[in-house]
Amino acid sequence: MTDIQTIRSTLANLRSDGETRLGGVADLETLAEVERSILGKRSALAGLGAALKDLAGSERAEAGQALQQTRQALSDFARQVRDELDRRDAERRLVEERLDLSEIACGSRRPPLAASSRSAGHLHLVTQTRDELEETFISMGFDVVEGPEVETDWYNFEALNMPPDHPARGMWDTLYLRLGSPETVLLRTHTSPVQVRLMSKGDLPIYSVMPGRCYRRDTPDARHLPVFHQIEGLVVDEGITFGDMAGVIEVFTEAFFGEGMHSRLRPSFFPFTEPSAEFEVTCPICAGAGCRTCSGSGWIELGGCGMVDPNVFTATGIDPERYSGFAFGFGIDRLAQVRTSLADMRALLDNDVRFLSQF
Ligand code: PHE
Repeated sequence: MTDIQTIRSTLANLRSDGETRLGGVADLETLAEVERSILGKRSALAGLGAALKDLAGSERAEAGQALQQTRQALSDFARQVRDELDRRDAERRLVEERLDLSEIACGSRRPPLAASSRSAGHLHLVTQTRDELEETFISMGFDVVEGPEVETDWYNFEALNMPPDHPARGMWDTLYLRLGSPETVLLRTHTSPVQVRLMSKGDLPIYSVMPGRCYRRDTPDARHLPVFHQIEGLVVDEGITFGDMAGVIEVFTEAFFGEGMHSRLRPSFFPFTEPSAEFEVTCPICAGAGCRTCSGSGWIELGGCGMVDPNVFTATGIDPERYSGFAFGFGIDRLAQVRTSLADMRALLDNDVRFLSQF
């Protein structure tokens, strides 16, 4: 038979048992389960409540009150445990989702979260074009060589078959530096001095392209920049012919501009090549049909080329009886201009993001 004493001690046991179990819970899911087993319909507490009906009236009220207190105490305890678990959860999320702003500012590391709304910027149109050109030539078996932008007169002119006062120097408006004797140190006017450096090293054969920045004393306009980029190709080996040059230019044109694009040569003059030619490619805007960019001809003039002049071989210590070779060169900025139908080249220097972000 149930009596009030037994009920009181049972309630005390249920409470301490319940608190121990609740205190050991580590996550919200387990908490819900434990809570159900302590306070739910099938719990010992609920069973005890059902047994109260056997008690005499006054005792029943007392026992009922005690049971209610125990129930209240246990559910208060469960709420405390829940609050504590919630707090720990929030704290953990804060740490996990923390952005280290100092590191983003320094640019030393990417933020730990992929933030899709951050715009990362990209390489400049001219750099993209240069990278593409390099890749095309590398795929054709060329290597990439760079040289200094500040040159001596010898590398930029004299070794290229232009002795002092040679009239052909007028083809390039030169910026000189106040270094050494007057007019001996300059900003290179083309990438051809890198050819001279490569040939002077004497590591033959040569199959190289030489991209880089060049300078001319030009006033900027829609088609000229005083600082611009060229890429030059040089092949020196035994038995190299004009036909090899035309073939390489044709293969490059198709690899770079795409199928159905061709090249053609027209006679020209450069002091360092003989014979010399200008090369044209199918207009990339109209694919040869004729448009405003190509003045209706279907062709765009891209650059110069020719067989390396024997005097250049002699100046750089290569035997012209044994070796022959060809060179070609063209403007990277100009190519980027033609390909994007850019009316004014000066936009390439303006640093206007609205323009640059289009490419
Ligand atoms: N260096 C020449 C220029 O700047 C281009 C060129 C390169 C021509 C190689 C022929 C051979 O105009």
